[in-house]
Amino acid sequence: MNYQGKRWRTIWRNDDAKGSIGVIDQRLLPHEFKTLTLSTMEECAEAIRHMTVRGAPLIGATAAYGICFALRDDPSDAALASAYQILHKTRPTAINLKWALDKMQAAVAPLPPAKRLEAAYARAAELCDEDVAVNEAIGRNGLSIFREILEKKPAGSKLNVLTHCNAGWLACVDWGTALAPIFMAHDAGLPVHVWVDETRPRNQGASLTAWELNQHGVPHTVVVDNAGGHLMQHGLVDLCIVGTDRTTAHGDVCNKIGTYLKALAARDNGVPFYVALPSSTIDWTINDGLKEIPIEERSASEVTHLRGKMADGTFAEIQVTPDGSPASNYGFDVTPARLVTALVTEKGTCAASEAGLKKLFGR
Ligand code: MRU
Repeated sequence: MNYQGKRWRTIWRNDDAKGSIGVIDQRLLPHEFKTLTLSTMEECAEAIRHMTVRGAPLIGATAAYGICFALRDDPSDAALASAYQILHKTRPTAINLKWALDKMQAAVAPLPPAKRLEAAYARAAELCDEDVAVNEAIGRNGLSIFREILEKKPAGSKLNVLTHCNAGWLACVDWGTALAPIFMAHDAGLPVHVWVDETRPRNQGASLTAWELNQHGVPHTVVVDNAGGHLMQHGLVDLCIVGTDRTTAHGDVCNKIGTYLKALAARDNGVPFYVALPSSTIDWTINDGLKEIPIEERSASEVTHLRGKMADGTFAEIQVTPDGSPASNYGFDVTPARLVTALVTEKGTCAASEAGLKKLFGR
């Protein structure tokens, strides 16, 4: 994506002796755009854990380079196994993390240690390139849906899309999943307007999605997380589209906390609810999302405190809850397949069901 006239990806290889990578520090957006250099496996693990980088595909890509750094320092089987474990434990819900680690392991484990590093860098770069191509294809497939819905509206109408969290290019290597069709629709001249859920507690919608849409010139409005139902009741949403961190083989969708409530409101109001995902987000080993997907629980301080820019331009953290009130912070929820209108993947669109996924992916 373009930022200030320069083409960016969210992760890139630096030209230095350490073979380091660069990433965007997403904790500082939307107020500051700063990049960071990561050059050790531990730094990659830390960046994923503390959400310097986040979003299912991007944490997978970062973990892939974490494996490269571990092998640079020690190409043995033991070092590979230990790096896999450390990186895998950084965040529990997004399956793309394990997917990327498995791809890396499969690429390097059969090789003699002396050949592993070069193969690891090559595979990590390939995974990043694949992510870009896959998301572009998701964008094209989603765009066809947008066109169909718009064609059914009176001439001159806007297409109102609601999204939750950040499933844009910042969550991936480029393009994004749910936001890819939005960027493409805007570029193609469709009159698209996006309702952006703020997505408490970390505000990935208000901070990151709004920033991306702003940079790209896409008309949008940030709303509090509880506004979606009201907007849908008043005919102000034509479709919802969100990303996912893990989708089961039966089409249950796990995504940022609050997604389920939007799907319920969408069903009650006859609003189509789409989920955009690369196939790397499908966990073919599980069927029941509610029982089988581990839900990340993060620090209560993300709920009790907010960080932002003050009127004088400095940054501050404020407490919004009373001293002593406990808070809980579940990061994700599961939307059952029955509430999902369709899954939009790089291979096309399918029903959120075992049959739908099998038809598309032949598994
Ligand atoms: O906690 P985060 O910011 O990593 O959560 C991200 C999301 O929930 C996204 O919607 C999901 O990763 C899909 S993005 C391609």
